Amino acid sequence: MRLPAIRKSILQLLSDGEFHSGVRLADTLNISRSAVWKQLNSLTELGIETLAVSGKGYRLAQPLQLFDADAIEGGMNARVRSLVSELIIHDQISSTNTYLLECAHAGAPAGLVCLAEYQSAGKGRRGRQWVSPFGANIYLSLLWRYQHGPAGVSGLSLAAGVAAIRALRSFGVHEAGLKWPNDIYWQDRKLGGILVEVSGETEGPCVVVMGIGLNVFLPARQAQGINQPWTDLTAVMNGHAPPRNALAAALINELLPALAEFDAGGIADYLQEWRGYDCMYGKRVSLLIGSECRDGFVMGIDDKGLLLLRQQDGTVRAFASGEVSFRR
Ligand code: BTN
Repeated sequence: MRLPAIRKSILQLLSDGEFHSGVRLADTLNISRSAVWKQLNSLTELGIETLAVSGKGYRLAQPLQLFDADAIEGGMNARVRSLVSELIIHDQISSTNTYLLECAHAGAPAGLVCLAEYQSAGKGRRGRQWVSPFGANIYLSLLWRYQHGPAGVSGLSLAAGVAAIRALRSFGVHEAGLKWPNDIYWQDRKLGGILVEVSGETEGPCVVVMGIGLNVFLPARQAQGINQPWTDLTAVMNGHAPPRNALAAALINELLPALAEFDAGGIADYLQEWRGYDCMYGKRVSLLIGSECRDGFVMGIDDKGLLLLRQQDGTVRAFASGEVSFRR
């Protein structure tokens, strides 16, 4: 979905983060000053913070780099360009995952890629909300189809985590790691997350939507509802986060081949690398499974990608699901 044309134009004018006088904005957009003011107010609904200073005008609290299809396609490698059936960029959408699931049910082909500047109902794992203010982060989903049923893609979410870390490390974010199954962490803080949704019959075929949310610049005010330690690339890289278009291209370059080639090698291709990125190994954690809580020490993952937990009685047990939290 597109933003109304005037709102998009005002955002493009303000995206440089500099002050723009109300009179100038009104003239450029050919609207009244009160219409400018109304438009600026409506930006808060999208999670965009604006500042007004008398005598100077208006500016965004943070400059914006809007997604640009040409820049993203230009950053894709040749192999990935051949895998992409279409790249769709929404100004606003409920959730890029939900959108691609709808496209899948309407028959969309594998290789559909969707980015959004803003999600009004971004989805996290376990039914949580994913905070998705406008233009601040990356909200990306990719669609792939398989001939087999959903059982054949178990482990794909770990592969997605490995692919995301490869992309981050290509920008020098060497301390980025994974918290089982695929949370992207940096120094005990969550930097991003992955939600893999699968739909299909037991015998196949099935369709997978892989969604990733990566915090690039998450305004503290927007993050108030997040109930775990978090960070963003701007903090991690001392104010020098890579351009969002370059990040999006790098993520697509890694995630799409992981989806396309998962049939050939499965999780075995990723186990060793995943273990190298494990930021929980040896740590004391609580594992929440439904309403049950188990304490123990993480002993990595087994060859199926299940979490290995050394329990208080000394036995090591493998878990297929659950929510892990660090015990400090
Ligand atoms: C998690 O809880 O860690 C998973 C977060 C996944 C968020 C991404 S943002 C793009 C895609 N669309 C969604 O609604 N969710 C995923």
